[in-house]
Amino acid sequence: MKLTLLGSLGHINQYTIPAFVKAGHDVTVVTSSEKRVAAIESIGAHAAVGSMKDTEFLTSALTGADAAYLMLSGGFDDSASMDETATKQAIIFRDAVRNAGVNRIVNLSSVGADQGPEVGSLHMYHIIEDTLRELENVNITFVRAVGFYSNWLANIPTIKSDHAIYRNAHAQTVNAMTDPSDIATAIIEELPNLKSTTDVRYVVSDFQTGNQIIETLSKKLNIPDLKWVELTDQQMLTQMEKMGMPTPFAQGMTTSNRRQDSPDFYADLRANLPTLGKVKFSDFAERFVSAYQNS
Ligand SMILES: NC(=O)c1ccc[n+]([C@@H]2O[C@H](COP(=O)([O-])OP(=O)(O)OC[C@H]3O[C@@H](n4cnc5c(N)ncnc54)[C@H](OP(=O)(O)O)[C@@H]3O)[C@@H](O)[C@H]2O)c1
Repeated sequence: MKLTLLGSLGHINQYTIPAFVKAGHDVTVVTSSEKRVAAIESIGAHAAVGSMKDTEFLTSALTGADAAYLMLSGGFDDSASMDETATKQAIIFRDAVRNAGVNRIVNLSSVGADQGPEVGSLHMYHIIEDTLRELENVNITFVRAVGFYSNWLANIPTIKSDHAIYRNAHAQTVNAMTDPSDIATAIIEELPNLKSTTDVRYVVSDFQTGNQIIETLSKKLNIPDLKWVELTDQQMLTQMEKMGMPTPFAQGMTTSNRRQDSPDFYADLRANLPTLGKVKFSDFAERFVSAYQNS
């Protein structure tokens, strides 16, 4: 089967590409960089060099594919709102799929895609899902991943400096988390299944409150006074902007962090809970320790 994948040799595709090649598929991988071509070919796939933001290029990369995997890849226009950026990208995805005549799509989406602007940055996924749903005669599965474990690595600097994780969410709030390898498992199953009847498939590997995360990391890092410090939304926004995050992103992240305190945030996920993925927070904690020691 001919498969085209966005996401280059990223965290998820490090698992999907070898699995698809091993299964005998003819795999084309989109990269924005000529530098990645040799590495892609060495795994037994073809490279298509160009940008997901270019409808003409994406149409040509998708043409002839039996199935395609679409995901947001790379940076965005810092000056635009996240919803504007998502709308633009969603139209490019929709038009390229339509022009190329692909009939099977797996789109990497996110928890929160079922909700409105109250989910902040995650509203991008709602926009993309809605736009792709306009396609007729295309079988689409939305793989809604929860937060990546690796997002917690961003807290290493303040753990080092203040023995603290700062976040605008309660310490008692549950965080659903996952790992790229568990997301890849879902994509590997879904993409070649041209007759899949799965509309939405959540991927979640573990649930941990902020307090539980602190407890695990405190032990693993041997920092007994490690603490969770809840910030106000305004404090979180200011901190993200100080770190150099563009304002639209910082606002979107602040809103989505706070939304997690609402029981509604994970309601659809809980109503459609999949078998949990294999990688647990305790497994990730081992990687966290080596990242901490090497930073
Ligand atoms: N973080 C979370 O909690 C979370 C939750 C739910 C969903 N997600 C989704 O997961 C995605 C990340 O997946 P991942 O970790 O596997 O990806 P990744 O490791 O960030 O890889 C993405 C790759 O895309 C390529 N790329 C960059 N700009 C591009 C462009 N303009 N056109 C085409 N390709 C481009 C880059 O490789 P080259 O340099 O080779 O081009 C980059 O390495 C996010 O975009 C998000 O949508 C994340």
